[in-house]
This record gives sequence, C-alpha cells and structure tokens, in this order.
Amino acid sequence: MALCLVSALLLLLLLGWPSSAGPNRCVDAAEACTADARCQRLRTEYVAQCLGRAAPATCARARCRRALRRFFARGPPALTHALLFCACTSPACAERRRQTFVPACAFSGPGRAPPSCLQPLDACEHSRICRPRLLAFQASCAPVSSYPDGCMQDQAPSCRRAFAGLVGTAVTPNYVDNASARVAPWCHCGASGNRREECEAFRGLFTSNRCLDGAIQAFDSGWPRQVAGWDPEHRLLQVSSVPGGALEGGCLLSLLPILTLQPLL
Ligand SMILES: *[C@@H]1O[C@H](CO)[C@@H](O)[C@H](O)[C@H]1NC(C)=O
Repeated sequence: MALCLVSALLLLLLLGWPSSAGPNRCVDAAEACTADARCQRLRTEYVAQCLGRAAPATCARARCRRALRRFFARGPPALTHALLFCACTSPACAERRRQTFVPACAFSGPGRAPPSCLQPLDACEHSRICRPRLLAFQASCAPVSSYPDGCMQDQAPSCRRAFAGLVGTAVTPNYVDNASARVAPWCHCGASGNRREECEAFRGLFTSNRCLDGAIQAFDSGWPRQVAGWDPEHRLLQVSSVPGGALEGGCLLSLLPILTLQPLL
C-alpha cells in the first residue's frame, strides 16, 4: 500500500501536477494529444518530417508542411486547435506554443532575415493548395466595416479553422515571440516598393486584425473538455494507460481519492 501511494504521487508529479509554474495549457494540450492515438500519430509524423533526417541545418520543408496540413486536416479539431490556440500566461508556456509546429522548418529560414511578404504572397497565389486557403482566411477573418464591432457575428470558429488551414502553406503563420500572442507569417514589408500597400494589407491580416485576435482569445473560453487539465476522466485515462499496469486493481482504487482531491489542492 505504501509503495502504491509513493508510485501514485510519483505519477502525479510525472503528469506535471501540481506544477509550481502554474497552469500551462499548452502542456495540457500536448498531453491530451499524446493520449489520443490519432493525434499522437499525426504529430509524430510531422515532427519526424520537420526535424529532417539529413544535416541538422536543413529540413525537408515541403514534406514538413504537407505533414502539418495533414495534422490539421485529419486530427481531431478539439485537440489540434488546442495545441495551436492554447492560452498562455507565462513565457515558458508561450515559448512552447511558439515551438509546437517546428517553426525552424515550417515557418522561418533558411536565411536569418525574413523575406518581403510579397514573396510568400506571390507563391501562395500561384499555389493551388495555398490560394483557396488564403481566400478562406480573408473571407473568415477579415474585419467587415458593416458590422457593429467590425467582426462578423459568430465568425470565431470559422476564422480559427481558416487560420489553422494556413499552417503548412507558403504563408504559414506562427507566434512571433514568447511575450505575446501576436501571430504573423515570417516576412516583412520593408522593401516592397510600389506594392507596399498590398504587402501591408496582407501582413495586417495577421498582425493588426482584431477579429483574428478575438477568435484566438475566444478559444480559451470554450477550452475543450477533453483537454481540460482538471478533468478527472482525462487524468484517469492517462493513469490507466501507464505501461506495465503497476497501478491496476486495488492500487488504482487507492489512487481515486487523490485524483478527486486534485482540484481542491
Ligand atoms: C523567450 O524568448 C527569448 C528571446 O527569444 C529567449 O531568450 C528566452 O529564453 C525565451 N523564454 C523562454 C521561457 O523560453
């Protein structure tokens, strides 16, 4: 029994609870994805593609991006969106969120300086994968002046879907730092000459778009139940899937009171 209690406490620590750093929704989202076979398989696939098997400085970007598109197309939206839109209150959380979709391969590089946004924009407009996704993003996320608050009613879910649809395209967006929830594709509008306005309009769809910001923030209020860290079912699911079955039977029963107390501690 004592051994059982010790292993139970050890397990709770391993599961990341209780955490001195406070709640980390991006960790919760990652755990929930791990616990789901499909999400886990698709994530393993894009990580394998995006980390590159050749020299560490290179990556198979086209394959990485294809695997990312597949992750969002085939993964359970509640879980894939939780990984993309997890709300953070600490830099550690935001850094994890920024790194989730392997930005070194999917988002930035190969050079150190970002290119002009006209480059990914032109590439997107000539891509039969990217173009309809960018149009959908514009249609679902762009502010509309005829609405009272500038954003279409109930547009948040379709805006988030359209934003997620861009991950893995020529205009892949990501969080720009670990101190904010600002997003942008990896490009700037510094040297865009006579197409400056077009460039700014495109970049502004990401960087100064309160409908997009609102849609991302709104995800938190509807934080999916299967991801919620306090959900005892979710924790139990993980506990019961520990390999070796060391906590099965009577031991698992003695663990139940601890798990129920969890939200109170
Ligand atoms: C946040 O980003 C800065 C700048 O890139 C970096 O130096 C710092 O280590 C990051 N913080 C965390 C918690 O990862």
